[in-house]
Amino acid sequence: MNPMKPALAVLIAAASVQAAVDFQKDIAPILADNCLKCHGPEKQKGKYRIDSKEAAFKGGKSEKAGVVAGDPDKSEILLRVNLGKDSDELMPPEGGPLPEPARAKLKEWVKDGAKWPDGFVLASAVAVPTPVVPSATARPARPIPPLPELPKDFKPAAAEAAAIAALNKAGVDPRPLAQDSPWKEANFRLKGAEITDASLAPLSGLGSLVELRLGNTKITDAGLKSLSGLKHLQVLGLELTGITDAGLDAVASLPNLVYLNLYGTKVTDAGIAKLAGLKHLRNLYVWQTQVTPEGVKKLEAALPGVDINTGWVAPAPAEKKEEPKK
Ligand code: HEC
Repeated sequence: MNPMKPALAVLIAAASVQAAVDFQKDIAPILADNCLKCHGPEKQKGKYRIDSKEAAFKGGKSEKAGVVAGDPDKSEILLRVNLGKDSDELMPPEGGPLPEPARAKLKEWVKDGAKWPDGFVLASAVAVPTPVVPSATARPARPIPPLPELPKDFKPAAAEAAAIAALNKAGVDPRPLAQDSPWKEANFRLKGAEITDASLAPLSGLGSLVELRLGNTKITDAGLKSLSGLKHLQVLGLELTGITDAGLDAVASLPNLVYLNLYGTKVTDAGIAKLAGLKHLRNLYVWQTQVTPEGVKKLEAALPGVDINTGWVAPAPAEKKEEPKK
């Protein structure tokens, strides 16, 4: 029997991942948003790290396996996220338990064999107050761009209270980045399908925002116009939305962006070319977009410090003929 050709193996792997829970789309965001700050590069509470497959599966100081592929009942992360609100061992300890759909997805993922792509590392997106940690794939000689400076005496505008109240109505609660910090983060992702362009309107009055998660929502290019006042924004997640190149005009006008996630959008080389003026940009995610190696090269030439994460595992085009006949 012929050994399986690499190109075919990749196609089959891609097909089987699509059928079940998708790690990058469904699981990585849950872990990155809810676990990474205590179990990542910065801190390893309980001697547990969750950013690489090896560490996440191995577990922490209790020596119980973090993840056992195929067995949710033996996977410590699942036991922990499913504890009651009063349990000291509930994860995450604050703000837990996670919403039921997130817990269900984690369980399905483990049951389904806990697939985690080789070498994939959960990216920390927290630029403030700690610097972004360059991803494992960073080019060694990359000159890391300086973090933008946040004005020390910043006071949120009085009108922000109204903007926050409007967002609360939509079920989104902008929170201070740290105790006593005037800077805020807002996560729309948990409200996903309910979030449209109209939901973003109050954002234009929220100049204290430094981190904004809009991934997995129903927003379009038009909605991004509401971001134009966010001059201090450093972290922006637009993954898995309907954003196209047109929307990147608004993004290119955010001078302090450090982290930008465009994974699973329709952007192309022409779109990311608009980002060439973002001098603080350190991490750009363009998995599953129409961006090509040429487009990446061009942006890297303009911004030598940027780490562009493409997630490419695609076979070389010449090998296409290896595909099985239908
Ligand atoms: C605010 C910080 C914080 C966050 C966020 C957090 N944890 Fe923890 N975690 C801890 C602390 C502290 C411990 C050690 C105390 C304990 O065992 O309960 C711990 C322990 C653990 C352990 C046990 C490690 C061992 O073997 O002893 C697991 C597994 C775990 N966390 C998973 C998670 C998962 C999964 C998430 C995200 C859904 C998460 N944690 C989010 C603080 C956190």
